[in-house]
Amino acid sequence: MRRIAVLTSGGDAPGMNAAIRAVVRTGISKGWDVFGVRGGYQGLIDGRLTPLGARDVGGIIQRGGTILGSARSAEFRTEAGQIKAIRSLNEFGIDGLVVIGGNGSQTGSYALHQHGFPVVGIASTIDNDLYGSDITIGVDTALNIALEAIDRLKITASSHQRAFLIEVMGRNCGYLALMSALAGGAEAAVIPEMEIPPEEVAETLQQAYQRGKAHAIVVVAEGAKNNAEKLNEYFQQHRERLGFDLRVTILGHIQRGGNPGAFDRILASRLGAGAVEALARGEFGVLVGQIDGDITTTPLSEVVSNKKTVDMDLVKLAQILD
Ligand code: F6P
Repeated sequence: MRRIAVLTSGGDAPGMNAAIRAVVRTGISKGWDVFGVRGGYQGLIDGRLTPLGARDVGGIIQRGGTILGSARSAEFRTEAGQIKAIRSLNEFGIDGLVVIGGNGSQTGSYALHQHGFPVVGIASTIDNDLYGSDITIGVDTALNIALEAIDRLKITASSHQRAFLIEVMGRNCGYLALMSALAGGAEAAVIPEMEIPPEEVAETLQQAYQRGKAHAIVVVAEGAKNNAEKLNEYFQQHRERLGFDLRVTILGHIQRGGNPGAFDRILASRLGAGAVEALARGEFGVLVGQIDGDITTTPLSEVVSNKKTVDMDLVKLAQILD
């Protein structure tokens, strides 16, 4: 291995820059040349590679987003796009690629691996829905952003005796919703892994008021069937009977753009270095993640064919503590 490249793909996640920095500096420490790919897989197809030195990644550890840029490339999902990408890698003499991203991005890494290109993935998505890592880059920061919003809304909820519904990100996964509900002391969490019908959510809120609570908070994952829109529709229809007002806040992309906290910076630094070590060992076609506190590798074939689920014990705990 002499010359490697690194790219970020899919949704940006706080800590991606710390991972880029770790890949570049660990690669350089081995005497390798490191290239950055601009604009994710689409940039790879278009040959947008530039050399990165140790100083090029200075002052970025604390910055959210990704200095390399990211994209969701439709062309890369095609065989022709993947072949073009490999052509670019060969033109630049790259003999190993590091892909920082979530499910879609690692499906892309697996495709390159199946084409025979040496690739290593790094687990990064705020959704925490990637098999092969207990926790992914960006989750902790995104969770703290959601939590700050919940804490603030709770103050207004208590002041007005209003119920608040907060929708957090998580395309197919309720991790962010469940954990922010747990940490924020919400009355209910509605997640795709355990759907609650609107009438049950309403009942939970009514019971909270009956128990003397001044606030009632529901956290909903955007990927839940009964998302904020559906629940709000129900509450507006039954407003008189329920006897309380509901306000809706959709956090959306606000959760993605924060500056990474200490946890994400450290995780990203460890995973970035771990990816370079995997390439150095000749261990290709794997995802570098963290399992039980250790930096681990999991074959991409397993990563793309398995689903990560939320911990049902935590669902029960959130219900007991509401
Ligand atoms: O995968 C991360 C994520 O933020 C999801 O939670 C969300 O559904 C999706 O990306 C949004 O994607 P985009 O930024 O492309 O709209």
